[in-house]
Amino acid sequence: MRIKIKIVILIVTTLVLVLFVAAYYTQRAVERDQEGLLLEDAAKIVKEVESSIAAAGDGAERLRQRSVEEMEYLGSFHVLSEDAAKPSPDPDLSEAKRGRIRAGLGEGLEKLLYLSNHIARVDIVLFEQDGTLSPFFSKIKRQAAQTQLTLDYINQVKDGRPVVVQEAEDDFKYLSVLMPVRYGELIIGMAGVKASSEAVNTLLTSKKQTTLAVALIAVAIITGVLILSMNQMVNRPIQNLLSAISEVKEGNLRVAVAPAANDELGLLTEHFNSMVDTIRRSSEEKEFLLKEINRQNDELQAGIREATGELLKRNEDLVLANQSIYDIQKKLGHSRRLAAVGQLAATVAHELGTPLHSVSGHLQLLMEEPGLAKDSLRRLTIMQSQVERIITSIQNILDTTRQPESKPGLIDLNEVVEDLSILVMPETISKGIRVTKTFAPDLPLVYGSRSKLEEVCLNLIDNAIDALPGAGAITIATRRVASPEGLVLKTEGLRRVHWVEVTIEDNGRGIPEALLKDIFKPFYTTKAHGKGTGLGLAISQEIVAGYHGFLTVESEPQKGSVFRVLLPSLEKITV
Ligand SMILES: Nc1ncnc2c1ncn2[C@@H]1O[C@H](COP(=O)(O)OP(=O)(O)OP(=O)(O)O)[C@@H](O)[C@H]1O
Ligand SMILES: [Mg+2]
Repeated sequence: MRIKIKIVILIVTTLVLVLFVAAYYTQRAVERDQEGLLLEDAAKIVKEVESSIAAAGDGAERLRQRSVEEMEYLGSFHVLSEDAAKPSPDPDLSEAKRGRIRAGLGEGLEKLLYLSNHIARVDIVLFEQDGTLSPFFSKIKRQAAQTQLTLDYINQVKDGRPVVVQEAEDDFKYLSVLMPVRYGELIIGMAGVKASSEAVNTLLTSKKQTTLAVALIAVAIITGVLILSMNQMVNRPIQNLLSAISEVKEGNLRVAVAPAANDELGLLTEHFNSMVDTIRRSSEEKEFLLKEINRQNDELQAGIREATGELLKRNEDLVLANQSIYDIQKKLGHSRRLAAVGQLAATVAHELGTPLHSVSGHLQLLMEEPGLAKDSLRRLTIMQSQVERIITSIQNILDTTRQPESKPGLIDLNEVVEDLSILVMPETISKGIRVTKTFAPDLPLVYGSRSKLEEVCLNLIDNAIDALPGAGAITIATRRVASPEGLVLKTEGLRRVHWVEVTIEDNGRGIPEALLKDIFKPFYTTKAHGKGTGLGLAISQEIVAGYHGFLTVESEPQKGSVFRVLLPSLEKITV
């Protein structure tokens, strides 16, 4: 059932109950005025009398033994009935029996009167056969008073109707009630109950107070019950939910609230439990996923570390390899240049070799001359052996200075300078030199030996690096150029197509103008001993010239230098 309906029902029920109780007790209080109260008392007394009469019929022996001393007879009821001819309907009420009734009445009435302080006097009279009233029992509690009974009243009672009489005596007001006493269906007498108005009023007031108190207690109890019920129905489930919510806030996702009644709170509790359950499951799932992600991440990191380590190592190896290639290449350049010295020596040897051979021949002829003095022969033999030794030495020099040379062909200079720029990278990077490359995309091929052209370009790049004190800039560029004016080419078996230019520019220390003519001379170097041979430019110029090209320089001290290699793009003429 819905909680709203429950509360409404509860409140309505409570209000109805309270109203009902209040109405009931108010009604009772109003009704229980003086007359009502006295009529009630009289009814109780009559009931007692009637039951005593009934008991006397069955327990005569027991009643006989009881004393009647405490009973007093008063003549107040000796009133002759005008209706004397109408006899009492009880023929069996003998004197002995009456005694037994009186005896039986004593104890019961005593109890009643003890509890009823307001009752001043009780009289019980019987209607005699002759129509008179016989005082049967009279009990005066406090103040005796004459009771004036009129025939009207008696006849009313005889007809079965109770009579209430107001009396005044001195300053006191009294109230009397006359009530019929029955024996079976018959009215055999009447009971007169007299009470002080004041005492009755006091009793009524106290009863009203008691009633009010009872009503208040009833309201308090009902309110308490209502509060308890509300607590049970609403407050407790809400409290349970609130404490569960704060537990969830603390992170306890295993909390579950005991299901409340089948109302909105019950539904709320159910939803809350299922919500917490969902959160718990998704949080467990999230935790699992997070763990899985972390694990995979760790694996990935380890993999990356491994791969990176491997890559770094390879890179280091590569840098080292590049460095050593560059060193070797540099050394090779130097040894080539030194070899060129060798070639020079070879030329000298060749030039010397021919006359030496003729000298040796002449010496041989002289030694074969007949009659030659022994001393002369010995000298000629020494000379011959020395000439032979020189010839052998020259032969040896010629053998050792012969250099291997790559076969000439069509060379892409872009490729050559690109490879060289990579080769010198360890040096440029370590010195902080910025290398800019601008290569013409459609550069024609040149005819020549790749190793010789490499030597030219590497020497120019090396010189540029050496011209920079530390950090600086080198620009390597290639381009196709128009034919230099007045240029005559000796194209033996070759056909000129285009001209190709390679420039190597640096912003280094530059070359004083006066020295520009010296730098191409063999053995001119400004580098420390063992660092340069001074043959780089000389050989380069010779190589370039060998391919019908030009090697030129423009330089300005402290600004930098531009070395320009101009080569014809030649093709082998195939006919
Ligand atoms: N770009 C340049 N800037 C300044 N000076 C240069 C430059 N290029 C060459 N030179 C000067 O010309 C000299 C001769 O150069 P060359 O290449 O012939 O011999 P090297 O470089 O001294 O020795 P090697 O070439 O055998 O290492 C150099 O020592 C240097 O003084
Ligand atoms: Mg050089």
